[in-house]
Amino acid sequence: MNKKFKTGLKFTKNFFVTGAFVETNRKVELEICKHIPKQENATIVEFGMGHGNITQEILNTISPTSELYAFEVNREFCEHVQQTIKDERLNIINDGAENLTTHVSGKIDAVISSIPFSFFSKQKGKQIIQTAHDALKNEAYFSQVLLTKFNFKKFQQIFSECQLLKIPTFPVYYIYHCQKKSS
Ligand SMILES: C[S@@+](CC[C@H](N)C(=O)[O-])C[C@H]1O[C@@H](n2cnc3c(N)ncnc32)[C@H](O)[C@@H]1O
Repeated sequence: MNKKFKTGLKFTKNFFVTGAFVETNRKVELEICKHIPKQENATIVEFGMGHGNITQEILNTISPTSELYAFEVNREFCEHVQQTIKDERLNIINDGAENLTTHVSGKIDAVISSIPFSFFSKQKGKQIIQTAHDALKNEAYFSQVLLTKFNFKKFQQIFSECQLLKIPTFPVYYIYHCQKKSS
């Protein structure tokens, strides 16, 4: 059985937590990492690591002295990535994005997220976006991938600059690139 197919089975089995039947594709992996800074000692956060496809692309992008904190609520997925990605810069956190500040102190240089906002209450969604916004450095990006554009408004209410991009693959993905701009 190939790797993508196995991941698809695990995602489908956990559909009400993953919000997906398949892993995101290569176009998404590249586009969502576009605004990650390549400088030394950057702190990057990922929400919704899954089986680690975007995680690997983040690690390919960041500098050797940077750190990645990857949040994932599914314990099995955390164990899978622990076994398949051996990288000292990766810190796997088996907890929800809503608990960001419990695990990461200090300012963040980018947030890369694929968590299913459509399955969260309005309040939980807004709390996650606001907490991440407050933890980001000025000018830093929160990049989110989703299967719909319905959650874009929630990001616009918190971030001053937001761009919506369509990835015309099957399935179609939407990437929200949101930049923090403090006045
Ligand atoms: C759509 S999958 C994306 C997985 C992978 N990053 C990809 O691009 O294919 C969403 C992932 O978010 C995880 N997840 C759901 N709610 C979460 C939360 N509150 N905090 C962190 N991860 C969460 C799910 O278990 C699942 O692995």
